[in-house]
Amino acid sequence: MNEDLDEKKITAPLVEAMKTALKNPTYQFHIPGHTKGQGVYQPFRDLVGERLLALDTTDEFDNLGTLNPPTGPIKEAELLAAKAFGAQRSFFLLNGSTIGNLALAMGTTKRGQKVVVNRNCHRSILTGLIMSGAEPVWVLPDKLDDWSIWGKISPQTIEKALAENEDVSCVWVTNPTYEGVVSDIAGISDVCKRYNVPLFVDEAHGCLWNFSAKLPTPALQQGADAVVHSLHKTGGSMSQTSMLHIAKKDSRVDIEVLERTLKLLHTTSPSLLLLTSLDAARAHLESEQGKEQIERAINNADYLKNQIDKMKNVFYLDSTDTDPTKVFIRVNGLSGKSLEMILEHDYNIEVESASDIGILILSNLGNDLSDFEYLVDCLKEIDKTDYSEHPIIDKKKHMPMLTPQIKMRLRDAYFAPKELINKYEAIGRISAEVVAECPPGIAILLPGELITEEHLPYLKDYKEIEVIKG
Ligand SMILES: Cc1ncc(COP(=O)(O)O)c(C=O)c1O
Repeated sequence: MNEDLDEKKITAPLVEAMKTALKNPTYQFHIPGHTKGQGVYQPFRDLVGERLLALDTTDEFDNLGTLNPPTGPIKEAELLAAKAFGAQRSFFLLNGSTIGNLALAMGTTKRGQKVVVNRNCHRSILTGLIMSGAEPVWVLPDKLDDWSIWGKISPQTIEKALAENEDVSCVWVTNPTYEGVVSDIAGISDVCKRYNVPLFVDEAHGCLWNFSAKLPTPALQQGADAVVHSLHKTGGSMSQTSMLHIAKKDSRVDIEVLERTLKLLHTTSPSLLLLTSLDAARAHLESEQGKEQIERAINNADYLKNQIDKMKNVFYLDSTDTDPTKVFIRVNGLSGKSLEMILEHDYNIEVESASDIGILILSNLGNDLSDFEYLVDCLKEIDKTDYSEHPIIDKKKHMPMLTPQIKMRLRDAYFAPKELINKYEAIGRISAEVVAECPPGIAILLPGELITEEHLPYLKDYKEIEVIKG
């Protein structure tokens, strides 16, 4: 590996290696069997183009290196990512941050150990804990009732959980929340250090933070031991690509164990195209153009908020402790889902997500001001329509905000004999499955949780629920 990569000059070794491979095609007698696009359905080829298919290659071929373990240009690209994000080690991930969370759970927690984790964590953390057999100790963040979303997790809540529980293998927090609410990670990290417990931060939605002082401080700079980033969400890489970073200083995570765990979980035929998009995204975020686009994203979000300030019935979540590129909006008289539908059907706008009360707008690297001007025009029209006389309120609830009543261990419940029964008959029984809808991927029901009447408004689309048998 080239350890002397020029610090100042931005390079993207995988991008360069793919360019070279494209220019120097070999006679191919290996996978992928479509052989640079010759063996695919013609309309698909026409749709995506020959070039993309010619670049669809995998581990070991065309001098592009391997993912597990990282070698060649893939290793160089991971090294550059570690430098850019301030990590000791960065792993490129296919299958999203999901696989990063699975690897952290499987590689660092053991059956019966406890994991202090926020109730609004993503379902991938739950899956990881089911796989490892570690037991969640649920901590509840604040609730922002007016917005029907979760708020911050306080260091005091974490401290209480650590004081009340022994054999805690790690504290695992989601920051920011899906809607962009930011917790005091430095404070949480101090608590973890006092209790000598590693801190993992699911920063899936915060991968831009390292590249602008106007964004919240990344967890790797605040004492987290390991962090996952969904680069594909907001960082400009292709869908399902993410990174797992291990902190530079005194990380309490065993990198070799994690590497072995990722090898267990990852495909053995990684897409070089997807991996290259991670290299490209990192290079772009470090570049002047990338920084300008982050600045523009922040300015565009500010513009949107300033315009909403002038409206009568439209509001946004206004807090200094939110990621400025995420704007959570609500309109008097409309549920979040209804607002989402109006924007989609009447204005051809797709938003990131909709919840009980609001919609989430992401101000992205690729949006220009005109996108926001159009959105503002549409919101102005919606603002003038008075829905308060005939409010369009969704009967279904979307953001699970319940405090789970745990009756069985997570893994035991998941693997116990189970039966599928009508949801109304399921009341009073113990859930055997993870019920979570994406977005935001927060569990409505966990294996081992008592099912109550309170769950029903979230389960409108379900006829049956899997429960523990008998
Ligand atoms: C907080 C959080 N963590 C992890 C994930 C999983 O990320 P990915 O889709 O990259 O697998 C998500 C996905 O929405 C998420 O919101």
